[in-house]
Amino acid sequence: MSSPRRMIAGNWKMNHGPDAARAFVRALELPVSEDIDVVLLPPSISFAALRASLEEKAVPVQLGVQHVHHEKAGAFTGEVSAAMAAEAGARYVLVGHSERRHLFGETDAQVRTKVEAVFEAELVPIVCVGETLGERRAGHLEEVLDRQLGAVLSPLAIQERVEKGEGMVVAYEPVWAIGTGETASPEDASHAHRFLRRRFEEWTSPEAAARTPILYGGSVNPENAAELLSSPGVDGALVGGASLDPTSFSRIVAAVGRS
Ligand code: PGA
Repeated sequence: MSSPRRMIAGNWKMNHGPDAARAFVRALELPVSEDIDVVLLPPSISFAALRASLEEKAVPVQLGVQHVHHEKAGAFTGEVSAAMAAEAGARYVLVGHSERRHLFGETDAQVRTKVEAVFEAELVPIVCVGETLGERRAGHLEEVLDRQLGAVLSPLAIQERVEKGEGMVVAYEPVWAIGTGETASPEDASHAHRFLRRRFEEWTSPEAAARTPILYGGSVNPENAAELLSSPGVDGALVGGASLDPTSFSRIVAAVGRS
C-alpha cells in the first residue's frame, strides 16, 4: 500500500500583505525535493502577488487559501468561494482551523459544508482537528477527534470522493499548542495520528487512509521540527508563526527531508 506524501504547509494567518509576500519569495531558498509537497496559505489579498513571485523565481511551492464560503457566488460581503480560489490558482483550502472554530464560531456542520464546496471546486481540503486543553485534561481527546473527523467523513458523497482518490489532508492541531510555544510530545502526536488514521480508514478504506497525509500543527519551529516529523504517523507539518520567516520555513522543509 502506498504511503502518504510528505507535506509542509505554511499558514500565514492574517500576516504578510502583497509587499511582504514578494519580499518573502525574494529571500526564500528552499531545499529542493520532489518527495515533499510545500504549500503556502497566504491571506487572499496577497495570493496573486505571492503566486506571481513564486512563478517568476520558479519556486516549487503550491498555494492554498485559509478560508472559503460554501456558496459559489452571491451576496456574501467579504467572502470568497472555492471556485474563485481555484480560478486564482489555489490547490488547497484550509478548513476547520481552530481559530475559525473558536474565534469565528464555525461549527462541525459548517466545516462539512465547506469541505463539500472545496471538493466541488476540485480543490484539496486540509481539514484541521484538535482538542482544547480542557478536553484533553478531561480525557476527551479521542471523542473530540472522532466528532470533528466524523463530521467531515460521515456523508457518503464525501466518502466516495475520498475512496476514488480525490485528495484530502488532515491536520492534527492541539488547540493548546497553537501559537503558544508548547508542542505535543512526539508520543502524544503519534497517538493522535494513529487514532485519526484508524478512524479515517474505518470511514473510508485502508487505501484511502494510507494515502492521506496527516500533518501535525502547533508551535512547529526549526528546532523541534525534525523530532516531531520523525514521530511515527506524522507525515508533515502545518506551520503558523515559523512559516512567516523564509529562513525558518526553509529549515522546517529541510527537516522533513531528513526525518
Ligand atoms: P503555530 O500555528 O505554528 O503558530 O502554532 C499553527 C497553526 O495555527 O496552523
